[in-house]
Amino acid sequence: MKNRYIPITAIVVVFAIAAVAGFLFPPAVQDNPARVVIDNSGGRVVFTHFVHADEYGYDCADCHHDEIGQDRPVACGSCHPAAFDEKFRVEHQQSFSSDEACLRCHADVPVAPLADEDRPDTENIPLRADAFHGQCMSCHESDGGPYGEDSCYECHAR
Ligand code: HEC
Ligand code: HEC
Ligand code: HEC
Ligand code: HEC
Ligand code: HEC
Repeated sequence: MKNRYIPITAIVVVFAIAAVAGFLFPPAVQDNPARVVIDNSGGRVVFTHFVHADEYGYDCADCHHDEIGQDRPVACGSCHPAAFDEKFRVEHQQSFSSDEACLRCHADVPVAPLADEDRPDTENIPLRADAFHGQCMSCHESDGGPYGEDSCYECHAR
């Protein structure tokens, strides 16, 4: 083989390997969802997730502040339910794959039945709507993006 073909051969080989690797190990697209549709009584919100995480240059942890040592962020609603009611009390115990998650709210890894003093103080844990509005708006206020009285339909579908 003539020397001048070596670079092109090398490039072809690299692409071939990349193609096979891409076929065998497809990127886990769901790890950074393109869009997240958030249905709610104010009108559905289509959140441009990938644009926020990629083009606007934020880190995952800027929004996913769970700090629970899981590889994949969990839904905000796992910790910010519509209400801290009976449904939450039962279902949230299955939302996490690590004990570390429990310690985000409980003083110790909980064992049912909980003593009264082991029940988390929910005063400082915003409910679902406040968690979303709070995070979306406070960042938009400082960095740009829709917020404030007249901004509703820049996020919500009519
Ligand atoms: C600007 C804020 C923001 C950034 C930055 C961000 N996310 Fe998200 N992400 C969200 C919101 C809001 C949701 C919707 C959660 C919900 O529906 O409860 C979400 C949902 C997700 C979900 C789906 C969770 C589920 O089970 O419903 C995954 C996975 C995810 N993000 C991963 C990532 C990764 C990985 C990064 C970093 C590359 C990242 N996110 C960066 C705000 C963000
Ligand atoms: C593993 C549980 C957990 C998950 C998941 C979680 N949070 Fe939180 N969040 C909390 C707790 C607990 C607090 C109370 C204050 C604190 O301890 O940080 C809180 C506080 C907040 C606050 C008010 C304080 C602050 O930091 O501004 C906002 C807003 C918020 N969360 C939004 C979100 C959004 C949006 C998501 C999803 C992208 C999310 N949270 C995911 C547990 C969680
Ligand atoms: C976002 C905060 C949060 C996280 C994270 C969390 N919990 Fe809880 N947990 C609560 C709240 C709030 C209650 C209800 C307290 C009350 O009844 O006053 C509760 C109650 C409980 C109860 C009592 C249920 C009942 O019927 O009274 C158990 C058991 C429990 N949690 C286990 C867990 C386990 C296990 C984990 C981790 C896998 C976990 N929790 C993670 C907030 C949380
Ligand atoms: C950490 C910061 C941050 C958070 C959190 C955040 N945004 Fe944004 N958002 C931005 C920035 C920056 C822009 C771009 C502003 C510009 O270029 O004018 C933007 C733009 C937007 C826009 C207009 C352009 C587009 O991409 O669609 C919408 C709609 C939007 N955000 C929705 C949301 C929603 C819904 C949430 C909460 C679930 C959210 N954002 C949370 C930073 C943030
Ligand atoms: C930056 C985007 C954004 C803007 C701007 C915005 N919202 Fe929202 N809103 C959301 C998201 C995301 C949710 C989803 C929270 C949830 O699932 O409960 C939501 C939820 C709601 C809900 C349902 C709450 C519940 O308890 O079910 C109402 C009502 C609402 N918004 C009204 C408004 C009004 C009124 C305005 C204008 C003053 C507004 N929103 C502006 C993103 C936005």
